[in-house]
Amino acid sequence: MRNYKIAVIPGDGIGKEVVPVTMDVLNHAAECFQDAAFTFTEFPWGCDYYLEHGKMMDDDGIEQLEEFDAILLGAVGDPERVPDHISLWGLLIKIRRSMEQSLNIRPAKFFKGLASPLADPRDFDIMVVRENSEGEYSEAGGRIHRGQDELAIQNAVFTRKASERAIRYGYQLAGERKGKLTSATKSNGIVHSMPFWDEIFKEVSQEFPNVEATQQHIDALAAFMVSKPHEFDVIVASNLFGDILTDLGGAIMGSIGIAPAANLNTNGDHPSMFEPVHGSAPDIYGQGIANPLGQIWTAKMMLDHLGEFKMGESILDAIESTTAAGIKTQDIGGDSSTVEVAREVCDRIKFKE
Ligand code: NAI
Ligand code: MG
Repeated sequence: MRNYKIAVIPGDGIGKEVVPVTMDVLNHAAECFQDAAFTFTEFPWGCDYYLEHGKMMDDDGIEQLEEFDAILLGAVGDPERVPDHISLWGLLIKIRRSMEQSLNIRPAKFFKGLASPLADPRDFDIMVVRENSEGEYSEAGGRIHRGQDELAIQNAVFTRKASERAIRYGYQLAGERKGKLTSATKSNGIVHSMPFWDEIFKEVSQEFPNVEATQQHIDALAAFMVSKPHEFDVIVASNLFGDILTDLGGAIMGSIGIAPAANLNTNGDHPSMFEPVHGSAPDIYGQGIANPLGQIWTAKMMLDHLGEFKMGESILDAIESTTAAGIKTQDIGGDSSTVEVAREVCDRIKFKE
């Protein structure tokens, strides 16, 4: 029996609704498969905790998390009561940075029963590997000459280490999927960092002769994702490009409420963290109508990370068969509640050899 120790941080808003039902789904899957079990340890960190204790998490919170196999997080943010820069930086970003979760992995895929804005979204099934530690999102730069002649300089930072790490992960993942990797570039306009990125992309390709590698300028790539979405498999991108492409992927799927994400630590020194793309949705919190599928799919990514592929696959199949049967929350055109959708997913999980 494999036993996994999972740290659970429901966080704020609908995180407190979608995380508990996701634990039910995981427990149900474990019962079906009978060879793995989960021990969940819940942490009450978030904005309520901040208002009571003056901090988003315990001072030794990071050390407390170190002993777990993975972290499952809901969402952070209660902007009416705690400013976002305090809540997000005090918990979510603190964990990502301290635990060197340097890659952000976001799949997007068409499910039967979802309404995509594209006419023909069939066979849309991609995985975006986004560099998550540097790139265009850097603090290097500044503003001078305040006033009329003011100027701002924003430096993008590309290190060989981080670029190679993201690109190599992209090749590995493509090798495990359809064997196609696309690199998002813009070396025709960004003349230092992007040619560097392209060079590394080419170098690492030598290690993966079986992966078909292509590079595409980000503007054309965005257009192709709309005009021929089925042609992509894995896309590797810098921080900014990956951020934009994953929102586009979510839009093609039909709702932010179903999009999952993983923050991966690749050196094995710290646990990885799994959290859906959506936030705490204060506008619908407390009504029992939040879509739990993003959180449940996120749990599936956690299972893949732990090596429980069959169990993960059975959860994804159960999600798809639930939407195909029309059992959906309001955001994707149904009238079922959070709990009803999750219960339906549980009922549809089947053991796989
Ligand atoms: P949001 O993702 O919470 O909500 C955007 C819109 O999508 C809302 O209309 C919401 O009702 C809807 N929505 C989101 N998830 C849904 C679900 N599962 N089912 C049905 N509808 C869903 O983004 P917003 O409103 O910009 O941010 C709210 C708070 O969440 C802020 O404090 C923000 O900083 C935080 N946030 C946290 C994130 C995280 O923890 N990773 C990510 C994004 C935002
Ligand atoms: Mg974004």
